[in-house]
Amino acid sequence: MRYLITAALPYANGPLHIGHLAGAYLPADIYARYLRLCGHEVLFICGSDEHGVAITLRAWQENTSPQAIIDHYHPLLEASLREMGISVDFYGRTSDPLHHRLAQRFFLRLLEQGWLEKRTVEQFWDAQAGVFLPDRYIVGTCPHCGYTEAYGDQCEKCGALLTPTDLLNPRSRLTQSLPQKRPSTQYYLRLDALQPQLEAYIQERQWKPNVEPVIQNWLRAGLASRPITRDLNWGIPVPLPEMAGKVLYVWFEAPLGYLSITQKWAEAQGDPKAWELFWKDPSTAIVHFIGKDNIVFHTLIFPAVLIAAAEGYTLPTAVPAHEFLTLEGQKISTSRRWTIDVDAYLRHAPHRIDELRFVLTALMPQTRDRDFTWEEYATRINNELLATLSNLIHRVLTLLWRLGPEHAAVTFMPLLEARVEAARTVGRRLEAYDFSGALEALLALAQKANKHLTEAAPWHQKEAEARLTLAGFIDLLAALGTLLEPFMPVRIAPTLRRYLNLSLFPWSELERPELLIRQLRLSGPPQPLVPKLTATELAQLRAQLLPAAPSEPTAKAPSTKPQESLQKLSMEDFRKVQLKVVTIQAAEPIAGTDRLLRLLIQAEDGLHTVVSGIAQHYKPEELIGKQAVWVANLAPRALRGVVSEGMLLFAETPQGQLVRISPDIPVPPGSPVK
Ligand code: MF3
Ligand code: ZN
Repeated sequence: MRYLITAALPYANGPLHIGHLAGAYLPADIYARYLRLCGHEVLFICGSDEHGVAITLRAWQENTSPQAIIDHYHPLLEASLREMGISVDFYGRTSDPLHHRLAQRFFLRLLEQGWLEKRTVEQFWDAQAGVFLPDRYIVGTCPHCGYTEAYGDQCEKCGALLTPTDLLNPRSRLTQSLPQKRPSTQYYLRLDALQPQLEAYIQERQWKPNVEPVIQNWLRAGLASRPITRDLNWGIPVPLPEMAGKVLYVWFEAPLGYLSITQKWAEAQGDPKAWELFWKDPSTAIVHFIGKDNIVFHTLIFPAVLIAAAEGYTLPTAVPAHEFLTLEGQKISTSRRWTIDVDAYLRHAPHRIDELRFVLTALMPQTRDRDFTWEEYATRINNELLATLSNLIHRVLTLLWRLGPEHAAVTFMPLLEARVEAARTVGRRLEAYDFSGALEALLALAQKANKHLTEAAPWHQKEAEARLTLAGFIDLLAALGTLLEPFMPVRIAPTLRRYLNLSLFPWSELERPELLIRQLRLSGPPQPLVPKLTATELAQLRAQLLPAAPSEPTAKAPSTKPQESLQKLSMEDFRKVQLKVVTIQAAEPIAGTDRLLRLLIQAEDGLHTVVSGIAQHYKPEELIGKQAVWVANLAPRALRGVVSEGMLLFAETPQGQLVRISPDIPVPPGSPVK
C-alpha cells in the first residue's frame, strides 16, 4: 500500500505545546513509523500554516510584521518536531510561492467550474487601524450577563453565543475605538450545492466515533455557502483585479498546503511529477491527523474543494481527529501561559524525550479529552515504563551480560506465543488509531515476561540452568527492539538495539511463530534504559516548565519570550501601564483551586479585588498588611468566577518561586510607581 500521512499544519504564530503533540503529531508519527516497518510506501508531510488573522493581529499587537513572526516560528516549529522524533519526510510552509500559485489556481478553477458566488455584506471596520475586524476582535458588554469583556462571537463568562451586533458598547480589541459597518464583497464557496456529493463521500468512508457525529451534525443542519475570501493584507492575494487588497481565507488555502507541500517534496526529489502518485492514484490512502477543532475543515470543506476542482484528486481516506489534552485540569492556553511548550521541554529535559512520548501516548485524547498532570507524568514513567518495560529489559540484559557476550537463543513457548500475539495486537490497534491501546498491549507483554522471569528466578539457578532460562528471553528482547520503535524511537528503542547488536526487523517477522534470531551478541554492559524520575527532578521540571498559575489573560497578547525578542516597547507604550503601590487588606484561598488567592487591596481610591496565582508561594496570613505593586489599569477578568481588577507583580526565581515586590519603606497606598 501507498500512504500519504499528514499532521495539521501548525500556525507559525506560537510554539508547539504538549497538547499539539498528543493530539496530532505523535499519533501521526507512531502510525507512519509502524506503516514503514510494515513495508508500506509512506510519505509523511507537514509544514507551517503562515496566514490567517491570528498572525496579523499578533503582529499588530507586537508592533512587528507578520513576516517577522512567521520567520521566527517556522524554524522553531520544525526543530521541535524533529527533536521530538516526529519523522516528517518533508516540512514545508504556506508562504512558499509554489503554495501561493497553487491556491490561486484552485480559486480560479472553482470560479470557472461555477462553484463560487459573489456577495456583498456589511462587516465591522476599525477606522483607526484601517482593517476589517473578525468577530472575535470586537469586545463589548454581554446582553445576557453584563460581562464587559465579552467577545463578538461568544461571552466567556456565561457562554452565550453572540454576534458582534449583540454587544452593548462594542469596541475594537485593537484600538478600543467604536467599530463601524462597511459593505465588502467576498467570494463564497457553494457548499450547499456540493452537499449531495459530500454526503456520498462521507458514506463511503469509515469515521472514528468522535468524528462521525460532528460530520453528521453539519450535514443534518444543511451546509451553507461560506466566504473563502477576506479583507486582510496578509495572505494569498485573491487573483482577481476587482479583489485587490483581499486575500484567500486561511481555511480555504491551508489544507491545499498538503498538496503544495507534496509537490515541493517531489521537486526536492528531482521528480516533480512524483506528487501525483499520492494525490491522483486512488490506491494511495491519504490520512490526516488533526485536532477536533479542525474536523469540519478536513472532512467537509477540503473534500468539497477537491471535488469542485474536478481534476481527479483523491479525497481523504481517513481523518483520525483527536480530542483535547488539558493540563492539570485546565485548558492549555499559550496566551495565559498555562502550557508546557515543546521547545522548553526539549531544553530542560533533553534526556527524557521518549519518556514524554510514552506518557503522551498513554494519555492520548483518542475519543475524549484527557488530562496531563506532572504527578501522572512521574507515575507513568516510574511505575509503567521503568517498572515494567525498562526493568524487564535491564534484568535480562544484566544477567546475560554476566554470563558472557555470546548467547544462543532457545524457544520458550509461552513467551514466543505472547510475542506473536502482542505484535498482532499492536498492529491491529495502531491500524484502528488506538495508540494507547497498542502501548497497553506492549506493557502487558512485558508484564507477562516479568512474571515468567520472577518465577524462573535465574539469579537463584546454577549457571548452566540460568543460561538456559535466559536463552528463552532472547527472542522477546530482539522483538522489543522493533516493537518499541514506533513509540520510543529517539533513544530507548535504538539503545536497546545497540545493546543487542540488532537492527530493525520488518513488522511481519515479529508475527512469525519461530525465533527471530538464533544467536545473540551483546555489545557491552547494559545501563538501565530509563533512569528513575526522582522527586527532585520532577519538582525542577515542574518549576522550569509550568508557571505557578495561569496569568490573567489581557486584551493584549501574551508576554512570552518570543514576543520579547520581537518587540521593543516605546516609552509611550510603557506609560500606558499604570503601576501603583497598594496595601493588602485581606487574603483568602479560592475554593476549587490550589493556586489562586483572592486579595483585597487598598489603593488611593478605595478597595479593589485582585485574583493572584500565588497560593503555592504565600499563605494568606503572610500577605495581610504587606505592600505590593499593582497593575491598576488592566481590563477586569473573571477567574474561577471572581472578577480580578488588575494584577499584583511578583518576581520569579529560576526555581519558579514567586516573590512579592514591595517598596523599601512603606508608602501611602495608591502611590504611583514610575
Ligand atoms: N493551523 C491550523 C491549526 O493549528 C491547522 C491547519 S491544518 C490545514 O488549527 F489543513 F489547514 F493545514
Ligand atoms: Zn454573558
